[in-house]
Amino acid sequence: MGQGKPLAGQKALVTGANSGIGKAVAIALGEAGADVVVNYRDGEDKAVEVADQIVRSGSRALAVRADISVESEVSDMFRRAIEHFGTVDILVNNAGLQSDAPVDQMSLAQWNKVISVNLTGQFLCAREAVREFKRRGVVPSVSRAAGKIVCMSSVHDRIPWAGHANYAASKGGVMLLMKTLAQELAPFKIRVNSISPGAIRTPINTSAWSTQEALASLLTLIPYGRIGEPEDIGKATVWLASDDSDYVNGISLYVDGGMTLYPEFARGG
Ligand code: BGC
Repeated sequence: MGQGKPLAGQKALVTGANSGIGKAVAIALGEAGADVVVNYRDGEDKAVEVADQIVRSGSRALAVRADISVESEVSDMFRRAIEHFGTVDILVNNAGLQSDAPVDQMSLAQWNKVISVNLTGQFLCAREAVREFKRRGVVPSVSRAAGKIVCMSSVHDRIPWAGHANYAASKGGVMLLMKTLAQELAPFKIRVNSISPGAIRTPINTSAWSTQEALASLLTLIPYGRIGEPEDIGKATVWLASDDSDYVNGISLYVDGGMTLYPEFARGG
């Protein structure tokens, strides 16, 4: 089983994998041959559905509840993952949320919530993964690397975003967390990269695409003329997690239909 699949024999853990981008990523990794830990915080039924879909594609899957902003829950989740699958080869640091407000109306609780899930959560999960990668080292029959981390960032790790100071700050933080870990861990054959999605059709941004007017306005920001689908991010993640990208370390891969190309300058400047 899994012969010829790019991630055959590998074990992946995807945070926030019961909906949106995380769900598509977990399914894509499973189809590529990886066994997958499907992390969720709320919505067990949806996580179990994702796990069932992975099993139908021929890989193994385990749904595990954990709030990634809580240190003890993260270490418990990794312990369960390693007990169940033997190790972890791939971490996809995906879970994230928005809590938007003009800065003068943003509460400290809103600020802290977004930073603790989107940024501190990525640190806590990366730390556990790195401990396991360093303990195990490279197993050449599995992968050329001792481990791979894919951080889900955003185009807003470089595009400022009025009304979303907490979110943009968290993603800017993710970018330099990722690059610093990539630099620090390269000697251990651990690769760390980000995917920076643009507008992807998921629950986090329903208001940006669910009406014709909103979608038309959104498309003025996307030179390629379509909204992204979660599967676009799934495919990019499989590549960054596989040995096909073995010489790629510390990059931000913008999967955004050109949103970062200053589209308004196509008409002026
Ligand atoms: C945000 C979405 C937004 C997209 C493009 C993402 O990081 O979560 O709400 O549509 O960036 O602006």
